[in-house]
Amino acid sequence: MSIVKFSGVGKHFERDNSDLHFAAKDLSLQIEKGELIAVVGKTGCGKSTMFNLLIGLIEPTVGTVEVLGKDPFKEFHALSGKLSVVFQNDRLLPWRTALENVAYGLELRKMPKKERLAIGLDWLKRLGLDMHAHQWPHALSGGMRQRVSIARAFATDPEILLCDEPFSALDELTGAKLRQEFRRLVKETHKTGVFVTHSIREAIEIGDRIMVFRAPGHVADEFNVKEALQELGEEGLKQKILHEMGNDGSPRELGAAEELYK
Ligand SMILES: Nc1ncnc2c1ncn2[C@@H]1O[C@H](COP(=O)(O)OP(=O)(O)O)[C@@H](O)[C@H]1O
Ligand SMILES: [Mg+2]
Repeated sequence: MSIVKFSGVGKHFERDNSDLHFAAKDLSLQIEKGELIAVVGKTGCGKSTMFNLLIGLIEPTVGTVEVLGKDPFKEFHALSGKLSVVFQNDRLLPWRTALENVAYGLELRKMPKKERLAIGLDWLKRLGLDMHAHQWPHALSGGMRQRVSIARAFATDPEILLCDEPFSALDELTGAKLRQEFRRLVKETHKTGVFVTHSIREAIEIGDRIMVFRAPGHVADEFNVKEALQELGEEGLKQKILHEMGNDGSPRELGAAEELYK
């Protein structure tokens, strides 16, 4: 059974002039347990809409979304603790230390203090941050704060880890390092991961499988990364993804392509 299943999903918003704007249309996809999926597409193509449908923040206008056999919007609480999210903005609580932030989800689940701090510290250690456990978020660099949010996401032992452009505000080197670590941790812990990005390179580095999104939010094509790299080589795969993203080859778009390769 698929762990995530979208069937014929549409989501539209009404604009001021009461025109319907489709953020997702005929969106169908499936994710199996243990997969690490990269979702790539241009800005505005509907990636975050898919993400928000998956975590139950918004409801589809048509079609169905199933996550671990539940409707994430209607049965939001049934999935509590089963999904963990890393956003672009780290969303740490500024009045809690790094360790208290990591242990927060466990505190909500009423885990005794000693136990939850031990688990939190272990996750900070795995991300190389144990020396900073007692610092406040404002004293940490952007990269360190994102490490804390990754530790926090893993600490509650969820089934699925989801990231929506988590490293795009970081410098390239820091982003690349965190990407590798995120991938390593998802694999080590045998979790399922969904990683949304607008960067083709990031998608290739992180995903077992890439879903290429195109506006209005639907899957234009999919690639098994290992197979596609063997068949097309890295440059070939990048070009193919770029094409599927809906690039028309105009000079302006080719300029944008450089941005997408980063
Ligand atoms: N709450 C909303 N109200 C109106 N339009 C929205 C809303 N959320 C997203 N959209 C529109 O839906 C489209 C897809 O947005 P989004 O899913 O955020 O794209 P992405 O994450 O790929 O950049 C965009 O055109 C965006 O302007
Ligand atoms: Mg987005």
